Order: sequence, then structure tokens, then C-alpha cells
Amino acid sequence: MFKLTDEQTMIRNTAREFSRKMIAPAASHRDQTKEFPAEILNRMGELGMMGMMIPAEYGGEGTDATSYLLALMEIAYSCASTAVVMSVQNSIVCETLYKFGTEKQKIDYLVPLASGKMIGAFALTEPAAGSDPVSQQTTAVKDGDGYILNGTKRFITSGKNSRVVLVTAKTDEQKGHKGISCFIIPKDTPGLIVGRTEDKMGLRASDTTDIILDNCRVPMSRMIGKPGDGFKIAMTGLDSGRIGIAAQSCGVAMAAFDASVKYAKQRKQFGISISKHQAIRFQIADMATGIEAARQLVFSAASLKDRGEKYTKEAAIAKLFASEMVNDVVARAVQIHGGYGFTKEYDVERFYRDARVFTIYEGTSEIQRMVISNQIF
Ligand code: CAA
Repeated sequence: MFKLTDEQTMIRNTAREFSRKMIAPAASHRDQTKEFPAEILNRMGELGMMGMMIPAEYGGEGTDATSYLLALMEIAYSCASTAVVMSVQNSIVCETLYKFGTEKQKIDYLVPLASGKMIGAFALTEPAAGSDPVSQQTTAVKDGDGYILNGTKRFITSGKNSRVVLVTAKTDEQKGHKGISCFIIPKDTPGLIVGRTEDKMGLRASDTTDIILDNCRVPMSRMIGKPGDGFKIAMTGLDSGRIGIAAQSCGVAMAAFDASVKYAKQRKQFGISISKHQAIRFQIADMATGIEAARQLVFSAASLKDRGEKYTKEAAIAKLFASEMVNDVVARAVQIHGGYGFTKEYDVERFYRDARVFTIYEGTSEIQRMVISNQIF
């Protein structure tokens, strides 16, 4: 059994208390109104939850990956929408800047992001380039000491509510993945337009938008890494992001599990609590087993990351297993709740919708299987 350190336990408990007190009460309301949890995210920034693995000198908390993932599970337990914003900010945005940014880029952008003073987004996906980001069409053409970007990015988490976006674009059409570069673009840059907002099945309090680049000029000083580094930067960020989605999956599954146990104890049919029926008990046992296995995969990938070892395969395994697991768990949770599970009176209905995207974003289950088998062979 994985044993938490005192510090990890303290961070988990702080996140748990905050999540249950401050996030849970209006999560269902925000799901219906699609209201962005701006105040909550501000407060999370003050508590150090928006750049947890970033050292204090750059505005973060300097925790290990395990502590971060424990906190993320707790936030997801109450609200998966809030959790996805936290996940993208901590991993793909802050970590990318920390690993690949220049000192000036870190001071200008990482410090406010990691300290939670602003929200960031990461724009890789396009209308015709999801699983295959190398086929992206956005171009960045050299213009003096900068680049002019043109193209459309799609399904961008926090596309509307972010103040800065990390954007990939092709600087050399001929070079495949080696022709993709990555840029930091503040939202007030002329030519950056926030396009349509998606009306989604789940994660409704997190905005997902198009980002349109229309002759958007970005100075060379805002390129992350060198020309051609963009694909590797994105893949490195996604390794970390994928353990985050695995943790998010565990958090939602834990919430659906607890709700199911509670309901099973209260609900009576055939004269006894349904928790006494073996059909229900076995469902609960299978749910507990899946959750425990997924959590161990998250911790195992996190410990590799903390030791500075390569964890591409383990992140993909954790993401694949946990995201499939949570979809099974939420379906069982709705089943245990019967007709009530199909209504908005019970949170399991929201969990069911929220979990659906976990096997899709940050790489579909099919992509995770490609990553895992590529690493093996
Ligand atoms: N870390 C570092 N470098 C990596 C890497 C990793 N994890 N994975 C690949 N690379 C490098 C390779 O080493 C290789 O470099 P060299 O040529 O120098 O050796 C280069 O990248 C190309 O690698 P592949 O040939 O394996 O690349 P590929 O074209 O076959 O694609 C893929 C690989 C795994 C399918 C990749 O395209 C992929 O992950 N696709 C899914 C994209 C995705 O997850 N999108 C999610 C969007 S973001 C999102 O959803 C965020 C959100 O808002 C929630």
C-alpha cells in the first residue's frame, strides 16, 4: 500500500476541506448555469494550488507530483470543471514554461500563472487535427524579429477565461513534427480572437472555445524553446497532463462511489436496505477495486516523475485505465441510484456526464494505447 508522507497528507487534507466546503455546494448550480468558477480559482491560487510543482521563486509551491495529484483528486471530487482548469494550468501551462521558458518568460508569465493571478490555456488542437497534431494547419511566418500567426485552434480549455495562451504553429511546412513551434500569446495581442464557445455535455462550468489567429504578430522573444521544438514541448506537457486527467478521473470516481454507498445504505427495497442485496454489494466491490487500482497507477507514475525518470508510458497507462474506470464507475453509480440517478436531484447524473470526456481529451484511449505500445516496442 502506498504510504503518504505527513506533508502529502496535510496537502490532501487542506485540498479536501477547501473542496468540500467551498467548491461542492454550488457545483451543481454552476453545471446548470455554465458559470466559470472565477472566485474559487482565485482562492485556489492564494492557497498555492495553481502552480503546485513550480518552485517558490517562480510563484509556485514547490511540492512533489504526488501532492499535486492528491490535491487534484480532491478538487475533482467536488467539481470536475474546476479540476480541469487546475490540471491544465499546473501541468501543460506552468510546467511547460518552467521546463522550456527563458528566465524573462518565467518572470513575465510563469510567476503570475503559478501564483494563480491569471489563468493560462494551451492551444494545440485544431478543427481537423485532434489525435494527429502534426497535421495542424496554423502557420507562423517569419516577419522581422517575430512571426505572423494564422489559423484556428479548437476545444481550448479556458479559451475565454485565460489571459495568456501557449499556441503551437507550423514554422516550417516541410519538416513535419520538427516544423512545429510554440509561442506565448497574451490574450490582448491584436489578431488573437476568442471564437465560439462549445455547449458541452459535461464540464459545463469550464469554458472550451476556439482561438482564432488572424495575422497575429508575436515577437521572437515569446517563442518557447527554438523553432521546431513545439511538438516535443507539447508531448512533454501532455505526459504530465495525462497523469492529471487520471487523477481527475479518480476524484470523480471517488465521489460517485461515496454517493453510491450512501444511497445504498438509505434506500430500501423488498423490505431491506439495498446495501444488503448482493447485486449492489458486488457493484460496490468492483467500483472500489477499480478506484484503488487507478489511484495506485497515478501514484506510481507520479513517483517516477518525482524521481526525474521518464514516465511517458506510465502516464498513458494511468490515463487509459483511470478514464475507462471512471466511466464504468459512474455508470454503475447511476444504476445503483435507479430512476433517481437519471435526475438532476442527485450528483451522479453530473458525474456521468462529466466523466465522458476523460477517455477523449488529452489523448483518447486509442492514443494512449498507441503511446503505450510505441514505448513497449
Ligand atoms: N515526450 C517527449 N518527446 C516526445 C514524446 C514525449 N512524450 N512523444 C513523442 N515525442 C517526440 C519523439 O521522440 C519524436 O521526436 P524525434 O523525431 O526527435 O525522435 C517526435 O516527438 C515524434 O514522435 P512520434 O513519431 O511518436 O509522433 P507521432 O506523430 O507518431 O504522434 C502521438 C505521437 C502519440 C500519436 C501524438 O501525436 C499524440 O499524443 N496525439 C494526441 C494529441 C493529444 O493528446 N491531444 C490532446 C489535446 S490537449 C487537450 O486535450 C487539453 C485540454 O484542454 C484538456
